[in-house]
Amino acid sequence: MTLYSRVRPFAFTLPAETAHDLGKRTLRVAQSTWATRTALSAAYQFEHPALECDLFGTQFPNPVGIAAGFDKNAEVTHALAALGFGFVEIGTVTPYSQSGNDRPRLFRLLEDEAMINRMGFNGQGMERVKSRLEADGTPQIPLGVNIGKMNSSNEREAIEDYRRVFDRLSPFADYVVVNVSCPNTPDEFDEGSPEHLRSIFETLETENERGVPILVKIGPDSPEESMFDLVDIAREFDLDGIVATNTSTSRTGLESPRREEWGGLSGKPLQDRSTEVVRSLAEYMDGELPIVGIGGVDSARSAYEKIRAGASLVELYTGFVYRGPSTAKRINRGLVALLERDGFTSVEEAVGADLDD
Ligand code: FNR
Repeated sequence: MTLYSRVRPFAFTLPAETAHDLGKRTLRVAQSTWATRTALSAAYQFEHPALECDLFGTQFPNPVGIAAGFDKNAEVTHALAALGFGFVEIGTVTPYSQSGNDRPRLFRLLEDEAMINRMGFNGQGMERVKSRLEADGTPQIPLGVNIGKMNSSNEREAIEDYRRVFDRLSPFADYVVVNVSCPNTPDEFDEGSPEHLRSIFETLETENERGVPILVKIGPDSPEESMFDLVDIAREFDLDGIVATNTSTSRTGLESPRREEWGGLSGKPLQDRSTEVVRSLAEYMDGELPIVGIGGVDSARSAYEKIRAGASLVELYTGFVYRGPSTAKRINRGLVALLERDGFTSVEEAVGADLDD
C-alpha cells in the first residue's frame, strides 16, 4: 500500500479545489529546503538514458510532463521536478490577475476517474509569475509557459494580451504554448478563427527575437478539418509544435452524477479521444511538427499509446490527482520496460511506431 493510497480517501473528502490547494501548499513546503527537495528526488526520480529526448533545442530527461493548469502561477515547479517529471508547463498565465469563475468550479468524477473544471483562467497575472521565477529560479528541467488572454478582452485586446505575456515570460521559457482552446472562458468571439490565429502568430513572430519555440494547444472537440486548418496556419508561421489536447465538452459514456456540471472534462474518458487526435495530426503532419500528447495519461501503457500514435512528449494533470506523487516515476519505469519489450533503444525511436508508413 502506498502512502498516497492512504492519504487519498481523506483528500477526496475535501472539495476538489481545497484538496488541490492543500496539495500545492505541501509541495511548496517540500521544495523550500535543500534537504526536503533532495529527499523528494531520492524517493521519486527515475532516470534512464532511453527516456531522454531532444526537442525544441532542449534536452528533456524524460517525456512525461505536468500539464498546464496544475501550477498556474509557477509556485511548485521545483517540487514537480523533484517528483520526477521531465518538464513542467506553467499557466495559463494572463496579463493581469483574475479570479476566474465562482466556486465550486472543480469536480471529481470518481466513477469515471475524471474531473470537470470551469476554473475560467484564475491566476495571479504575469508580473507575479515573473517575480516568482526570478526569486525561486527556474527548475532544472525544461519549463513551458502557457499563455492566454484576459476573460474581458475583445478580439483586438486579446492579441495584445498574448504579446504582453509573451514579452514578459518568454525569457524564462524553453517553449511557449498559445492556449486558444479553453472551453470554460467566455467566448465573445471565435478564438479559433483563422484570422484571429493569424493575427496572434504574426504578432508573436515579430516579438520573438530570441526564437523561443512556440506551440499551439488545441481542443479535442473540433472537426478534423478545423484541426488541419490550424496545423496549416501553424506551418505558415513556422510554429514549433502542437499540444493536443485540452479538456472536452463531451459527456459521452460518463457514470458519475457530477457529469451534469458544465466545464471541461479531463482524465480517463478523454484518453482514447485525445490519442485519436494525436494520431490524425501525426498522420496529417507526417513528422513535420512535434506533438505533445495529453488527455487521460495515467500509466506507462497510456503514455506509450500516445507516443506510438505520434506524440514526442506527453503531459498529464488528472492522472496525477488520482495516482499521486509517484505517478511520473511509475510511468517512466514502465515506459523503459515497454521500450525494451518492443526492441526500441529510446523513446524517440518509438514515436509514431503505430502509424502507417
Ligand atoms: C486544466 N487544463 C488547462 N489547460 C490549459 O492550457 N490552461 C489551463 O489553465 C488549464 N487549466 C486546467 C485546470 C484544471 C483544474 C484541469 C483539470 C485542467 C487542461 C490540462 O492542461 C489538460 O489539457 C487536460 O486536463 C487533459 O489532461 P488530463 O487532465 O486528462 O491529464
